[in-house]
Amino acid sequence: MIKGIIFDLDGVLVFTDQYHYQAWKKLADRLGIYFDEKINHRLRGVSRRESLEILLENYHGAPFREEKKSKMMEEKNRTYRELLKNMKRSDISQSVRDTLVKLKDLGYLLAVGSSSKNAKIILERTELLPYFEFVSDGNDLRHSKPHPEVFLKAAEGLGLPPEECAVVEDAQSGICAAKAAGMKTILMQGGNCSDKVDLKIQRLEDLIECHI
Ligand code: BG6
Ligand code: MG
Repeated sequence: MIKGIIFDLDGVLVFTDQYHYQAWKKLADRLGIYFDEKINHRLRGVSRRESLEILLENYHGAPFREEKKSKMMEEKNRTYRELLKNMKRSDISQSVRDTLVKLKDLGYLLAVGSSSKNAKIILERTELLPYFEFVSDGNDLRHSKPHPEVFLKAAEGLGLPPEECAVVEDAQSGICAAKAAGMKTILMQGGNCSDKVDLKIQRLEDLIECHI
C-alpha cells in the first residue's frame, strides 16, 4: 500500500527548463559551443556536473581542467539563480496546490526528491515548501539519479519503507532511480523517458483520480 508520494521538482512541480536552457546557452555562447533546446532536453533530471559534460560533447578543443569546469558550473548557476528570481507564487496553479492538499487529506505523506541544489530556493519562491513533510535535494547527495539515494533519503525522511512510496518523475534518470529504490513509478508526460512505468499522468491533478 502506498503511503508516501515523492515528487521530482523540475518538470513535475515547476517548469524551470527554460531557465536552465537560457543559463546553459549563455555559457555555451560565450565558449563558442553549439547548444540548442534538443540538447537541453537531454539535461532533464541530470546533475549539474553531468549536464556540463553533455554540453561539452560539442566542444572539440583541448580538454578543460577540473578547476575550469567548476568555474563554468558556477557561472551557469549564477545566471540560473538570477533567472530564478522571476519565479513567484503564481507560477504554480491553484489546481496544483489543491491537488497537494487533497493528497494530504487522503492521508498521503508528501516529499520532494530533486537532484537540484536550488530546490529549496525554488520551493520558497513558489511558496510550495509548506506542502511537504520532507525535502531531499542535491545538496545532501553523494550520488545523483539514476542512483536511488535521493529517493531513499526522502522515504527515510517520511519514515516509510521504499515499497510504500511512489515517485512522480518526468525524466529517464529519475524513473530509473525510483525503480532502483524499489518504489512505484509515475511518469508525467512531456518528459524524456521511454522506460516502462507503473502509471502515466498528463497533469499533476490526475493523481487524485488515478489509483496510486
Ligand atoms: C534537475 C534538473 O532537477 O536538477 C536538471 O532536471 C538539473 O536539469 C539538476 O541539471 C541540477 O540542478 P541544479 O539546480 O543543482 O543545477
Ligand atoms: Mg525532472
